[in-house]
Amino acid sequence: MSLSKSKPKSKASPSAAADLSESVPNPSVVKDASTQDVDLDVTHARHEGDITSDVLSFIHDAVLLQETVAAVLGVKSLPKQTGNDTQSNNDQNGLNISGIYVDATFGRGGHSRLLLSQLADDATLIVFDKDPTAISVAQELASKDSRVRVVHDSFATLTDSLAAMGITQVDGLMADLGISSPQIDDGSRGFSFMRDGAVDMRMDTSRGQSVAEWLEQVDDETLANVLYEFGEERHSRRIARAIKQMESYESTLELAEVIKEAHPNWQRGKHPATQSFQAMRIFINNELGDVDDFLAQSIPILKSGGQLAVISFHSLEDRRIKQFLQRHSKGQYPEDENLPMPPNRPRYFSKPKRVGPSKAETSQNPRARSAWLRMATRTDTAYEQTTQL
Ligand SMILES: C[S@@+](CC[C@H](N)C(=O)[O-])C[C@H]1O[C@@H](n2cnc3c(N)ncnc32)[C@H](O)[C@@H]1O
Repeated sequence: MSLSKSKPKSKASPSAAADLSESVPNPSVVKDASTQDVDLDVTHARHEGDITSDVLSFIHDAVLLQETVAAVLGVKSLPKQTGNDTQSNNDQNGLNISGIYVDATFGRGGHSRLLLSQLADDATLIVFDKDPTAISVAQELASKDSRVRVVHDSFATLTDSLAAMGITQVDGLMADLGISSPQIDDGSRGFSFMRDGAVDMRMDTSRGQSVAEWLEQVDDETLANVLYEFGEERHSRRIARAIKQMESYESTLELAEVIKEAHPNWQRGKHPATQSFQAMRIFINNELGDVDDFLAQSIPILKSGGQLAVISFHSLEDRRIKQFLQRHSKGQYPEDENLPMPPNRPRYFSKPKRVGPSKAETSQNPRARSAWLRMATRTDTAYEQTTQL
């Protein structure tokens, strides 16, 4: 146990944390699909008392699957699949589309596999992921399907990684942001406040600093700012102080317990560590910075008529994607930024569209409930190097 003597708190244990899951109702009942919230892990809490075979085998249910693949291909919908295997690589009924496509967040390849089923034999699909386990799965797929090329790096390296393959432009870009179910469900990765593990939270375990290493050296004020900025945690100062009083950071359940005890205002159905865990995860993986970099690079990388399709799971990301597409489809900064209106800018995208999950999807996969897919088509406006993104 690594709590300081000044905090004679109850010991964190799996059961102490799991107790909360009893008060966590089915999120699909509590919030409708349009709610943009920041508590992705609440669905995880629900799994504590309800371990399905999916959780045990670390499967990821792809969210907004048909909608995203149709969007990146620029079609209204995909043809009905024949047979039972809806994600086979070569669907006889597929659209047979040629071109170069990118799945920026391979995960377990749900979106990639469906996309491949619609692509022609001469098409190319480049897949990115930061996570070494996701990359192993991608490499296995690539060993069976010569259309697949794999990049173990952040999608923020999009331009350089594609240039290294001799590719300067692509027909479609898709990204399904955030973390995957296998990452949450594997306690050893440190993303979960419901399963014990090292306080790591890196998507790419092969490089960078873990949350534990960062917590050792960060000061109270910086920590509080991170909790506030990336978790929208209103009690960030009090929680930061409690975290900094811990003697060491070896267990996610201990960390969650300290946050829980420092949090003065528990909400029914939500673990009090939800927002703090989210904040530390977003910070340590530079998630928002990577999204900004990726979006900026999408303009020169997409061919005219190419499609951008991005799924986000919380308002911090969704707002960025929305504002980026607004700026570059209207050719102006949105008025709500309170800036003097600049002169018109080039319109790089068509009017963006937004799609959320159906009721059927959220009842089958509660993790889909806070997802938004935003999509737009690259116009034929020539990209200007001088454009301020
Ligand atoms: C929600 S999952 C994607 C699931 C995937 N669409 C599927 O169907 O299996 C998000 C994935 O993106 C990866 N990821 C998150 N940020 C990334 C980044 N900046 N660069 C590359 N991969 C990233 C995570 O490691 C995770 O595997």
